Amino acid sequence: MERVTLRTIGVVGSGQMGRGIAQVAAQAGFDVLLHDQDPAALGAARTFIESSLKRQVEKGKLPEPVRAETLGRIRAVAEPGAFSTADFVIEAVSEDPAIKTRVFATLDAACRTGVILASNTSSISITKIASATRRPDRVVGMHFMNPVPVMELVEIVAGQATSEGTLETTRDLAKALGRTPVTAQDYPGFISNRVLMPMINEAVYALYEGVGGRDDIDTVLRLGMRHPMGPLALADFIGLDTCLAIMEILHQGFGDPKYRPCPLLRRMVDAGHLGRKSGRGFYEYDAGGEPR
Ligand code: CAA
Repeated sequence: MERVTLRTIGVVGSGQMGRGIAQVAAQAGFDVLLHDQDPAALGAARTFIESSLKRQVEKGKLPEPVRAETLGRIRAVAEPGAFSTADFVIEAVSEDPAIKTRVFATLDAACRTGVILASNTSSISITKIASATRRPDRVVGMHFMNPVPVMELVEIVAGQATSEGTLETTRDLAKALGRTPVTAQDYPGFISNRVLMPMINEAVYALYEGVGGRDDIDTVLRLGMRHPMGPLALADFIGLDTCLAIMEILHQGFGDPKYRPCPLLRRMVDAGHLGRKSGRGFYEYDAGGEPR
């Protein structure tokens, strides 16, 4: 694959991850096309990015003219057809295999043949997503961590057909975005969630079995292992529904009972106690998502 200079990055999905990726790409000097099928979500993403950049100016970390230039590089687009001018596309829509494959089929039709299509999926098979396109060699995982503007890692996931050239271009892009890429093979959970989610699930088991209370468990990991957040607070931050969905993928994908989701995790999801986004999980949150 010949090396191309990437100028315009398309981002599909303007939720928490998509807007973070758009912000980071614009701050790194790329032109960004941000698409979401919901116009209200696109507007909300723009407001969020504006206030995030404004906070950086107030903290003296970003000169005012750079803030304005950065915002000027992000263009909201209502139709995926606008991605015909994109040089690289990153998808960050809902973590649902049916939605992802539909989006990839649309992107395959809208984008030029050489363009790489990356998915920010945290757990869905890249090989499966790639099979919805006519360019499986140019489909790759590009898994950013939340909050995107803060976290340095991008997990690059190689599907069955992903070419070495695609991996190299994607790693180069991650570096251009100021991130550190690590390459993982396309098996359930990749590296990040293969290791993180069983730890979170085990913390929920420790609570369920009464080994310790919520604060005891989180304090052990924060002060004993220097994790920035305890595993139960982190589960709330990620979303308990997302944690459960990833555990189900590990459980089904490996067929190994060591990955069985904790019944307490399942019960909390059934109750709608999903963590920060629902106002209640292992902790309680105010309307701004801050712990009470
Ligand atoms: N967007 C942008 N910047 C943010 C932010 C956000 N949502 N949240 C925090 N920040 C920035 C703050 O502005 C602050 O910046 P400065 O240092 O420049 O002032 C910095 O991050 C630290 O924030 P705070 O002082 O408010 O709070 P903190 O020190 O407690 O850090 C945290 C907050 C960065 C979230 C930290 O607790 C942390 O690193 N937690 C772990 C997060 C983690 O593990 N993420 C990965 C989750 S797994 C995943 O994403 C993938 C998956 O597949 C499930």
